[in-house]
Amino acid sequence: MWSKKLLGAFLIVISAIHVNGDIHGKACARNAKSAWLDLVIVLELTPATAGQNNVLMGGLLLDLYLFNISSTGDHTTRVALVTYNSTATVAHVFTDPQNLEAILSSYQAAVDASQDFTGETVNIAAGLEKAYDVIQQSGSNRIPGVVLFAATYDSNGMNNPVEAASKLKKARISLATVTFETANGVNNPDIAKLASDGLALDSKTANPTDFANVITSLNCVCSPGWTRLIINSSSEHFYSDCFLAFDTHTLPAFVDCGTGAGLVTVNTPERLEFITDTIIPKLKNPKFFSIGLTRTNASASWQWFTSDNSNLQWTTFPLFSSSPLPTDVVGYMHNDYGFHWELKSDDSYTNSRPYICQKAACDTNNICDRGTH
Ligand SMILES: *[C@@H]1O[C@H](CO)[C@@H](O)[C@H](O)[C@H]1NC(C)=O
Ligand SMILES: *[C@@H]1O[C@H](CO)[C@@H](O)[C@H](O)[C@H]1NC(C)=O
Ligand SMILES: *[C@@H]1O[C@H](CO)[C@@H](O)[C@H](O)[C@H]1NC(C)=O
Ligand SMILES: *[C@@H]1O[C@H](CO)[C@@H](O)[C@H](O)[C@H]1NC(C)=O
Repeated sequence: MWSKKLLGAFLIVISAIHVNGDIHGKACARNAKSAWLDLVIVLELTPATAGQNNVLMGGLLLDLYLFNISSTGDHTTRVALVTYNSTATVAHVFTDPQNLEAILSSYQAAVDASQDFTGETVNIAAGLEKAYDVIQQSGSNRIPGVVLFAATYDSNGMNNPVEAASKLKKARISLATVTFETANGVNNPDIAKLASDGLALDSKTANPTDFANVITSLNCVCSPGWTRLIINSSSEHFYSDCFLAFDTHTLPAFVDCGTGAGLVTVNTPERLEFITDTIIPKLKNPKFFSIGLTRTNASASWQWFTSDNSNLQWTTFPLFSSSPLPTDVVGYMHNDYGFHWELKSDDSYTNSRPYICQKAACDTNNICDRGTH
């Protein structure tokens, strides 16, 4: 059994995570204490996990301790618990008291209730479906996420875990998995396969900081329709930049991307490649598109747009295909041959072009409306 003292002993302070991004772009802020999530923790309670219930809950409490668990406040996270064996039960809902002791006591009650369970069937799908229902009923502005803690993978039952997982993903609900060993030390690789991209964890190797790092990424989302920058070659694959292409031919001087948004920055070959591979195909036959490279006059330096108004100067990429005229104050890209794009410039009120907007994703520091995001 868990005592308050034991709970207290687990609550040690773990330092916050800083992920800054790299030359290709900024990373999303991932401060767990500022996260705004509705997390449904789905836990297996079967003979396979019986010996580990306390260890598992201890680990989970350490994980959750990094978050700002509360039912009110913007930068807070709420937790619901679903436990399952051959059936699933909701042990703690979002409207239940939101603190670690209350969550622990709901968990303890579920452990006690499931002690007599000796069945063979383990129904992950039922757990995930209950989690789906809990989120549908939550009516909150927080980003929802499901975290599955499982040891046993059983696809023989009527309910298919893969289908239940894809139902969540189709509803734009991320699914993280934490795989732990069964009582006889087997670690099932099928559990991680249920996870959304980048959200599979292993209880043996993942510490609370890893957990927080993965789970806070759920707050990093683009508005519907906008595309997140992903660059595979770098260590930080996901960036906080979101892009949207507009086909309407517009003079750069009159482009309005909206609050906090601006024309796209293409300051590294990798960024340009992502834009040309992923965003440009959404335009109809573009030969040109406007970008966020500007200068105030002929003697000022060229600057890229940034969502946070940080000073990002043009250095040497891309090179101008010809020297800008003194009257040129904006850059644009021209598809000169094949898949090749060159940088050109003009005065911003002579030629209309399609354009690509850029804005920062929501993240733990930046709450946005789920309806419009
Ligand atoms: C934690 O939540 C409280 C209550 O909403 C809030 O005032 C506080 O700023 C949050 N902490 C962080 C680090 O965002
Ligand atoms: C496990 O199964 C038993 C009986 O089948 C049921 O009463 C109990 O609520 C289940 N426990 C959980 C955690 O789902
Ligand atoms: C990154 O790599 C993954 C796996 O190799 C691939 O599926 C994905 O399409 C790549 N993304 C980009 C933007 O190149
Ligand atoms: C050019 O722009 C810079 C930076 O905005 C400014 O300091 C300078 O006065 C401008 N020069 C002229 C000639 O307008």
